[in-house]
Amino acid sequence: MNASLIEQPVDLDVVRTSYDRVADNYVEMNLGDITTYPWLRTAIDGFAVAVHGLGPVLDVGCGPGAVTAYLAERGLDVSGVDLSARMIDHARRLHPDQRFAVASATELDLADSSLGGILGWWSLFNLPRHILPLVLKSFARALVPGGHFIMGTHMGDGDIERTEAYGAVPVAWTTHLWQPDDLWALLAAAGLDPVAELRLPESVAGVPSLVLVAQRSKGSS
Ligand SMILES: C[S@@+](CC[C@H](N)C(=O)[O-])C[C@H]1O[C@@H](n2cnc3c(N)ncnc32)[C@H](O)[C@@H]1O
Repeated sequence: MNASLIEQPVDLDVVRTSYDRVADNYVEMNLGDITTYPWLRTAIDGFAVAVHGLGPVLDVGCGPGAVTAYLAERGLDVSGVDLSARMIDHARRLHPDQRFAVASATELDLADSSLGGILGWWSLFNLPRHILPLVLKSFARALVPGGHFIMGTHMGDGDIERTEAYGAVPVAWTTHLWQPDDLWALLAAAGLDPVAELRLPESVAGVPSLVLVAQRSKGSS
């Protein structure tokens, strides 16, 4: 699906402004650093091995780029994109050798079968529930057959209206919680086959967390 066919979230500008506002604290608090979370790091390591040699990798919602840079260190041809210009300012400053751009997951113009891997690493939970399936379909089409998508997100039921985050900075965004079965259904509808699932309780990850890995069917065209 072409990004121009994806409806833009009505709260996109508010979400963007909120992440611009928290970006400095996010970096200061070193929040994107997976090396301090062994299970998350293991999931990203597995993804890196799985997509190696399949083509370029796109980190959608890369924030200040810690995971993008981590994957580059593992030999991947990776770039990052994020809704927040302030997050991308930090990414470029912290990782000057990597490529970053400002854009929403809902407005990417991804060529068909052009990517070996895509990440939505704690960056898709703000998308309205009726828009996430469209974004996943656009990702599936952009992957080469056998290409992998990895998603990290908050697990649970319902939505949380956030009014402050990352050091009590005022924000306005909705965190949509997801149950694994519901996300697997969306991934299947997008044309992505299940590969791996990791559930982390609050005691391990700070909040109940979910990592899913899915693969574009090798027989698809
Ligand atoms: C919790 S941070 C995670 C950042 C990064 N993936 C990491 O692990 O450090 C969420 C990120 O998603 C980005 N984001 C939110 N909505 C987005 C959208 N529609 N398109 C692209 N990025 C988005 C935010 O700007 C923010 O940088």
